[in-house]
Amino acid sequence: MKNIKFHIDSPIISSDGNTKLIAETNAVGIEGWLLADNGNCEIIARVASSGKEYLAITNIERNDVARVYPEILSAKNSGFFVSVPLGTDKDKIQLYCKAEEREIKIGEFEVNLKRKEYLPKLPDIVKGIRLGRNVYEGYQRGWGLQFDNSVGGKILNDPLFKEARLLAGSRTIVAEANLMNIFLIMKYNLKNIDSGHIIEFGSYKGGSAIFMAQIAKRLYPGIRVYALDTFTGMPDVDKEIDAHDESHFNDVDLDELKKYTQKIGLDNLEFHQGLFEDTAEPLLKKIEKVSLAHIDCDIYSAVAFSYEVVKNFMVPGGYVVFDDACVASCIGATEAVETLLIQRDGLHSEQIYPHFVFRIGLK
Ligand SMILES: C[S@@+](CC[C@H](N)C(=O)[O-])C[C@H]1O[C@@H](n2cnc3c(N)ncnc32)[C@H](O)[C@@H]1O
Repeated sequence: MKNIKFHIDSPIISSDGNTKLIAETNAVGIEGWLLADNGNCEIIARVASSGKEYLAITNIERNDVARVYPEILSAKNSGFFVSVPLGTDKDKIQLYCKAEEREIKIGEFEVNLKRKEYLPKLPDIVKGIRLGRNVYEGYQRGWGLQFDNSVGGKILNDPLFKEARLLAGSRTIVAEANLMNIFLIMKYNLKNIDSGHIIEFGSYKGGSAIFMAQIAKRLYPGIRVYALDTFTGMPDVDKEIDAHDESHFNDVDLDELKKYTQKIGLDNLEFHQGLFEDTAEPLLKKIEKVSLAHIDCDIYSAVAFSYEVVKNFMVPGGYVVFDDACVASCIGATEAVETLLIQRDGLHSEQIYPHFVFRIGLK
């Protein structure tokens, strides 16, 4: 490596001068662009106190850089981003470019963490469990996302959200607010219940599973994410209630998806191919405990089956999130929630915005 050009836009959260970062979370994000002459440079952030290293996401599109360096082909995808979790409130991060066994230091930052929770405080809402769910926490997330404009912005600026969202990229069709809510549950609430794995019914191109796996990797080492799908499209649908057909979601390349998750180091993510009706029960018997179930399969039969099979494996207070039961094109999913959870099991939801969230086994 002889020739290297780089730029750090600004460390996200907020910056005091060029080298002092002030973060409101327990992680710092550093983004920028880098052009190295051999094009194969890995960008690594090293935490001075622990020596731990974090590999940056690279190849992020940077049209602004391409305009400045039109003669350099790699400029178009020269962007990078790295999220660096920190153990201590004052630390240093060193940024390196590594290629051909050589390291070039490209930056060093002093960090001064100010931990600040960013969920809204709602003094008028009574805390505690009522009718099987935590009303206060439901308000914090749901009201926070729908009405407190600052919450969405803070999530977008959270290095961990940003990292997981970048890795999922265009592989997910889950709405941004729904991803944000999953993020809030994982960041603030999952730590308060018994440990359990995460299961997804309906993964399609893997995006939301990747998103959850990256967050789990950072916050809950040991927790695995199980992504279930035919990966070849929808099964038979009931045309009286479901607005899908069998050709939907049949454009998945599972081999490519597995290679991608290997490349980005998600060794806590497993794909289980087949109908849920065949794959879910043996898998659940093996993993035993689930703390978060993401049910994103759009049609009555699949949503109903997923809930029926997972409910007995949920840890007390475990979260069952229905991605599409509040979506206009999935009345079959709505009917499954109404019939089984609300009417038959008498459950009350903890959230209806941006999606239905229910808690299992809370008194
Ligand atoms: C809306 S997509 C999932 C979107 C995904 N979570 C994302 O991040 O974009 C719904 C998926 O459910 C799957 N599905 C529906 N019913 C199923 C069943 N009974 N067994 C397996 N997969 C099913 C479909 O194959 C489809 O890929």
